[in-house]
Amino acid sequence: MRKKIVAGLSLALIAGLALSGCSSRGSDSGSGSDATIKKGDLIGVALPAKTSQNWVLAGAAFKKSIEDAGFKADIQYANAGSPVPDQQSQISGMITKGAKAVIIGAADGSQLTSQVKSAKASGAVVIAWDRNILNTKNVDYYVAFNNYKVGQLQANALLKGLKEKKGSGPYNVELFAGSPDDANATVFFNGAMSVLQPKIDDGTLKVTSGQTTFAKVNTQGWLAQKAQSRMTDLLSQYYTGDTKLDGVLSPNDTLARAILTATKAAGKDNPVVTGQDSETASIPLIMQGTQYSTIYKNTTEEAQAAVDLVTDLSKGNKPDTKIDKTNNYNGVKTVPAIELTPVLVTKENAVEAYKGNDTLEALAKKG
Ligand code: BGC
Repeated sequence: MRKKIVAGLSLALIAGLALSGCSSRGSDSGSGSDATIKKGDLIGVALPAKTSQNWVLAGAAFKKSIEDAGFKADIQYANAGSPVPDQQSQISGMITKGAKAVIIGAADGSQLTSQVKSAKASGAVVIAWDRNILNTKNVDYYVAFNNYKVGQLQANALLKGLKEKKGSGPYNVELFAGSPDDANATVFFNGAMSVLQPKIDDGTLKVTSGQTTFAKVNTQGWLAQKAQSRMTDLLSQYYTGDTKLDGVLSPNDTLARAILTATKAAGKDNPVVTGQDSETASIPLIMQGTQYSTIYKNTTEEAQAAVDLVTDLSKGNKPDTKIDKTNNYNGVKTVPAIELTPVLVTKENAVEAYKGNDTLEALAKKG
């Protein structure tokens, strides 16, 4: 039956399909993009709850770059109280409104299967943004920083900070990871553990609590309050008397500040604490030496990369994507990715690293 239909297609149509790289418009094949996007079309952007400052910045960054590129923007955030159902209905709404591309920062990467299937069936391009969308072939592209690299940078910073600030070791450390519903959280943690595990094995690092698995060290919802109370509990259980806490692997700045609040309240010496996101509240702490490091992921550039991808597709250009299994495998496929490079920031390179970002550069210069 299918063969007969194909045979019946006119040559001109076949040529047109080949030109636009389109072989399965509206199907759920999930391989590559098959939409036709043009200037003035609606682009939907579904963002998770504002669990850290990068997400707050993302909405405005997308609005500007989508409009500058000549498309219409529909930007929505999930509510913190009910992020999953909220985001599911926002994405469905975007499809109903006729969005030709949906850019999704997933609230929960494993709970969007039917929404992205409908998006693909409508002919829209599905782009996972910052966080991958899991267990589906219906995601065309992934635009993000290299999250595995983020974890490796954090772990290397922890080791460097320990050497600089805590003498020769062995060092007592604790590990924290992000939220299990965020696909990035395990990638950050796996990247970090690829560096830290050998140091745990050779005795350089001692995880005093013995809690070293993602299942034990994750922080549901990326909530500061959860990290603070876990740190408080660890301190009262494992760091009584003279036992020192030398360092903490923290997956982002929000949690780093919560961890530092707990160690301060317990009267402990300032441990070496890592972070991520270059949040404005953390830069002064880094310059004062309270938080050791962060990661700079320029949100404006990350949004622009997704919009450039949409522009490329609208021009019929083949996007320059990368297949990177460690970073971009979603359980079913390795999603073709546009990967950006994260930058490690400590007190030493902050002014340099933030050049071009007026707000962050000014904070770094202020000290
Ligand atoms: C982002 C991080 C952020 C975290 C919490 C992750 O998916 O990549 O930059 O710290 O979410 O919001």
